[in-house]
Order: sequence, then structure tokens, then C-alpha cells
Amino acid sequence: MPKQQKIKVAIVGLGHWGSNLVRAFQSDDRILQVVGVEINLERRKFISQKNPKLLIFSCLDECLKDNSIDAFVIATPTETHYALGLKCLEANKHLFVEKPLSDSSKSARHLVDLANKNKRVLMTGHIFLYNQAVRQMKQLIHQGKIGDVLHIKSIRSNLGPIRSDVNALWDLAAHDLSIFDCIFNKNPIKVSCHAFSPLGLQQQDIAIGTLEYSPTQTATFFVSWLDPVKIRQVTVIGDQKMLVFDDMKQDNPLTIYDKRVKLMSSKDNLNSIKGAKSPIEFHVGDTYSVPINKTEPLTEECRDFINCIFSRQNPQSDGKNGLRIVSQLEALVKSYSQNGASIKL
Ligand SMILES: NC(=O)c1ccc[n+]([C@@H]2O[C@H](COP(=O)([O-])OP(=O)(O)OC[C@H]3O[C@@H](n4cnc5c(N)ncnc54)[C@H](O)[C@@H]3O)[C@@H](O)[C@H]2O)c1
Repeated sequence: MPKQQKIKVAIVGLGHWGSNLVRAFQSDDRILQVVGVEINLERRKFISQKNPKLLIFSCLDECLKDNSIDAFVIATPTETHYALGLKCLEANKHLFVEKPLSDSSKSARHLVDLANKNKRVLMTGHIFLYNQAVRQMKQLIHQGKIGDVLHIKSIRSNLGPIRSDVNALWDLAAHDLSIFDCIFNKNPIKVSCHAFSPLGLQQQDIAIGTLEYSPTQTATFFVSWLDPVKIRQVTVIGDQKMLVFDDMKQDNPLTIYDKRVKLMSSKDNLNSIKGAKSPIEFHVGDTYSVPINKTEPLTEECRDFINCIFSRQNPQSDGKNGLRIVSQLEALVKSYSQNGASIKL
């Protein structure tokens, strides 16, 4: 636990997401000061106009000279996560890295090992683990409310933002993989993926992947930053009921469908053939919304990081979590590089 009652946090990268992180950390009363680090002069000017009290350094090395800063949050492009994160851990700081933790499993593992060795908190910004709808979904599944999970389908599309350092798989599917990971609570056995570049740019705009967790438990995702419609939807197919999490719905994002397919046993089948009944029966019952606590996932995520700095426990979205997702992303890349080959993990 830090000697002082309150801690200082530096947000590295004050772009779209870094600005949100500044706001979230500034709103926690255990934070003494939030400072920023931003290499782009225009961006520094812009942020200073909006947030005149925010002290902004022009590079991480300058900021690291201030020994009083306890923790660093990396919200820069993915390709810079490892190099910047490494400097912070080497300076013995607690570290929160935006998703994905790094751009290779080798470098992600190095960050995990170093944080362990230095006894520092390492967190990955898998924000959906702090989303109340996802938490509620997991709880309902664990309570057996939808039966055994057979399949999860995720769609994440929008027009932009288009990144130049990573493709749509690394940028968007990192979220879906972390939701699958949270629900199945285990690594997939094998994965496959196809990725496309209709814009002809270096980075693929669309990716479609499949993950097999067991012979009866699978997941699929579709991610795209080249789509006119913004969709953020996860469907969980249980053998008793089905769940849909629609993140575009402000109110009631989580719905339970009392729907299932009943497959007749072979004995039933024989009888049903005699009686000219279908061997497949559909059950269609009620559809109802699940009440969700209205807390902002980003606030919850930052709170977990601060809690863990004080308690020295592991955040829910810890470094190992980040490493698992990076390893899966790597396997998916291997698959689309081999025309969708099945890759064992
Ligand atoms: N958790 C989420 O829901 C979520 C949402 C959006 C973005 N992100 C993640 O946040 C990160 C940033 O995304 P973004 O959309 O804010 O990108 P962005 O391009 O808007 O911002 C990145 C900023 O980092 C700055 N930067 C680059 N290198 C730097 C360095 N060495 N030192 C200091 N500043 C540097 C850039 O000048 C830019 O202002 C990415 O890893 C992205 O995956 C997470």
C-alpha cells in the first residue's frame, strides 16, 4: 500500500480514449493528481484548452523523472504499448495498459513476468469485464438460468474509426474475445479466421473468426470498421434459454428469450415418425428484459485498478487476462494468414 493516502496517476496518450481515462481517474477521490503525457503538440494544445489545470508532459521519459507518480495508464496506439509499458514497469510503477495488452504474446508475457517480479499491479483495459450487462450475463449463466452454453455469437461493426497500427481484428475483436473468455472461463482449443481488406489498405477492415472451447461449445465473431450500421451485439445460445446483450440499447441492453430447440431422442424419434411428428421441436416462450445496475464500465475499471494498488490484489482484468487474449489474437492472425486454417492453442 502506498505510504500516502492518495495516489498520483499519469495517463500516457491523450487521444480519444485517453481523455476519457483522465476524466474517470479525476473523478475518484483517492486520486491526488492526474497528469497527462502526449507527444503531439496540437493535441496538447487542444487538451490544455479543455482542461487547463491538467499538467501535460511531452514525453514519457520526462514524466518518469517525477518520482511522486505511483501509476501509469497507457492509452497510445497498440504498437507502442510494450515499449512504453516496459519503461513504466522498469521504473517500478503500477501499470494499466489499454487493450490489447501488446502486439505479440512474447512481449505481453514479458510485461506479465516483470510486473510479477516487481510486485506491481498490471491491468489490461478489457472494459467489458466491468460492464454490468456482461457481469449480469455471466451471473445468470452460472446460476443455470439458460442451461448449458452451446454457442456465443458476437457482432461489432461501425463506420470507422480506421486505425493504421492494427487491423479490425486486433482493435475490435479484442473486446469479443474477452467477453467469450469471461463466459467460458477457459482457453479455446482451436481457432480459425478470415480477414479482408476491401479498402485495399494495409490493415484488414473486416474479420470473421470461430473459436472452439469444447466439441459442444463454440463462439463466432464478426468485426468490421467498414459498415454503415453500428452494431454491438452478443448472443448467448443456451440449451434452455437464449440471451442477447445489445450494447447500443441505453435502457434494457440485456434480454432473455425463453426459446429453445428440443431434439427428440431416438426412441421419441421412432414414435414421432409413426405419428408423423417432426424430430425437432421448438419452444417459444416469453421474452423479458433483465434489470441492470447503471454504473459506467470505465469508472468501475479505473476503480478496480486503484483498489488493487491499495490492496495489492489482482484486478479482474489483469495482465494474464491480457496475455490470454493477445495469444488468441496471434492464433487468429496465423489462421487468416493460412487461408482460415484451424490453429490449435
Ligand atoms: N477500452 C476501450 O473501450 C477502448 C476504446 C477506444 C480505444 N481504446 C484503446 O486505447 C488506445 C488509444 O486509442 P485512441 O482511440 O485513444 O487512439 P488515438 O489515436 O485517438 O489516441 C492516441 C494518442 O496517443 C498519442 N501518442 C502516441 N504515441 C505516444 C507516446 N509515445 N507518448 C505519448 N503519447 C503518444 C497520440 O498522439 C494520440 O493523441 C488503443 O490501445 C485502443 O485500443 C480502448
